[in-house]
Amino acid sequence: SVNLLGRSVLKLMDFTPDEIRFLLRLSASLKQAKYGGYEQQRLKGHNIALIFEKDSTRTRTGFEVAAYDQGAHVTYLGPTGTQIGKKESMKDTARVLGRIYDAIEYRGFGQQQAELLAEWSGVPVYNGLTDEFHPTQILADFLTMREFTRKHLSQLAFCFLGDAGNNMGNSLLEGAALIGMDVRLGAPRDCWPEEALVARCREIAATTGARITLTEDPAEAARGCDFVYTDVWVSMGEPEEVWAERIERLTPYRVTRQVMEATGNPHAKFMHCLPAFHNRETGIGEKIFREYGIDCMEVTEEVFESAASIVFDQAENRMHTIKAVLVATLAG
Ligand code: CP
Ligand code: NVA
Repeated sequence: SVNLLGRSVLKLMDFTPDEIRFLLRLSASLKQAKYGGYEQQRLKGHNIALIFEKDSTRTRTGFEVAAYDQGAHVTYLGPTGTQIGKKESMKDTARVLGRIYDAIEYRGFGQQQAELLAEWSGVPVYNGLTDEFHPTQILADFLTMREFTRKHLSQLAFCFLGDAGNNMGNSLLEGAALIGMDVRLGAPRDCWPEEALVARCREIAATTGARITLTEDPAEAARGCDFVYTDVWVSMGEPEEVWAERIERLTPYRVTRQVMEATGNPHAKFMHCLPAFHNRETGIGEKIFREYGIDCMEVTEEVFESAASIVFDQAENRMHTIKAVLVATLAG
């Protein structure tokens, strides 16, 4: 039996495969309860701090609505307006917030900051994205995969194309290793996850039956996949200088109709954690598309808007899976 009461969620590797499967089952049942109108509030009287040193739409609203549905209260502490990172260290912030709140969500830069918060606050800390990992996103992705196939997760193959060494590539790799999936990362070699992480995931894979492939060939990565996943080529917090090189190096890894067809699977679905870099009307999008003379980045408009695209199902599932994390760690 699984008991996650009091636990932090900093990265998936801190959990056993059974614990992750438990969270996914709880997510599905909480989702069903909300749709069925019989959700029970198990977090009344709980207060949760939401620290965001980077912007967010899904993670913030996911945490807020999940908490409200369960009867808990939240305080949003955004990139400006607090003492965090300016006058006050993370260690002191942790000791303050731990006295006032029952749990803390943290989105920021270094994973080490999330770990400091967990170490010094004495309450559960949830990683809402760091430069290294994005664990709550992967819970939503795996729930979504489960909803769109009849297979068990351990029978699924998926590829991640593009900047495979970013927080999403890292976390999808560790998640797939734990759950025993067939995961392929398609990217130029210097965009692969760090060797130490790959080695650790290969050790886990040896015990779970997962298959891990790192390749520079996008078609090889896609062949036989049930899902094709991608993410932005430049992540939050990265300097402007990286755009030119990323666009040049990652263009062969963009998700096109041809890549979807290369899966050989007519039912293959397209996934993206969002936000996707395809909105020409938004400020930075317009600038980049004009400056580099390109008309798409990590995914074509055609694939993004196709029937194979399940990106908004993923987005909704952020809320249901975050709710499972809150209920499991705060109500037991
Ligand atoms: N996928 C995700 O984490 O989105 P936000 O940046 O909007 O939270
Ligand atoms: N890799 C992206 C994910 C956003 C949810 C970033 O860190 O900006």
